[in-house]
Amino acid sequence: HFIRRENKLWHGKNVLVTAGPTQEEIDPVRFFSNRSSGKMGYAIAEMAAARGANVTLVTGPSSLPQPHGVQVVSVRTAQEMYDAVVSRYAHTNVVIKAAAVADYRPKHTFTNKMKKSDGNIEVEMERTTDILKTLGSQKTGQLLVGFAAESENIEENAKKKIAAKNLDVIAANSVTEAGSGFQGDTNALTLYFANGNEASIPLTTKKDAASQLLDHIKPLLEGQ
Ligand code: CTP
Ligand code: CA
Repeated sequence: HFIRRENKLWHGKNVLVTAGPTQEEIDPVRFFSNRSSGKMGYAIAEMAAARGANVTLVTGPSSLPQPHGVQVVSVRTAQEMYDAVVSRYAHTNVVIKAAAVADYRPKHTFTNKMKKSDGNIEVEMERTTDILKTLGSQKTGQLLVGFAAESENIEENAKKKIAAKNLDVIAANSVTEAGSGFQGDTNALTLYFANGNEASIPLTTKKDAASQLLDHIKPLLEGQ
């Protein structure tokens, strides 16, 4: 069938997108999580599928409808997301990690609902595995695109993550600026490429930001 010339590089590529928050359980009814809605990742998955890629969306809990033409894998915890992503990595051409993965989880998960008692409690937290860093250390030609949610020193912090996780591109967004970041329908991104290039995506809808992001990384698909 007919493939638009500008979509040729995307056609048949296996693209893995992660989206949403993770939930780290402390007991059967309570968990630690964050404000991610999943909108940015879902928009990227939808736009990549529209360009002809084979898209798998690994998503934490989100109330969004499943994007059209995308294979959806639902997970809850950072560990489940790790398993879902790492098991697909060998057959993936491009990974775009928009998910807001929990950095810590409760060290103990209680089987029964915790009962309250007088006085305060402390919850001991342990680190989750850094999924993207793991992927960066096991790269066999995949294109790795990370996201950086920052509230200060955005450029410096984002660039550090490129090196620390062996990324090709990082999309930095300010989580404090009006109109960008978690939950809303709009976002503004700055892309930092491993080769030193930069590109900015000024405030726009998340769907349009997703489209522009894909257009910016398209040249890197050459030779994938
Ligand atoms: N990430 C991941 N696994 C984790 C934590 C983060 O794959 N356990 C990914 C995110 O999906 C994102 C990138 O790493 O693409 C950067 O996430 P971010 O939270 O901005 O950075 P961290 O490396 O976790 O550092 P910090 O939260 O301290 O800024
Ligand atoms: Ca983090």
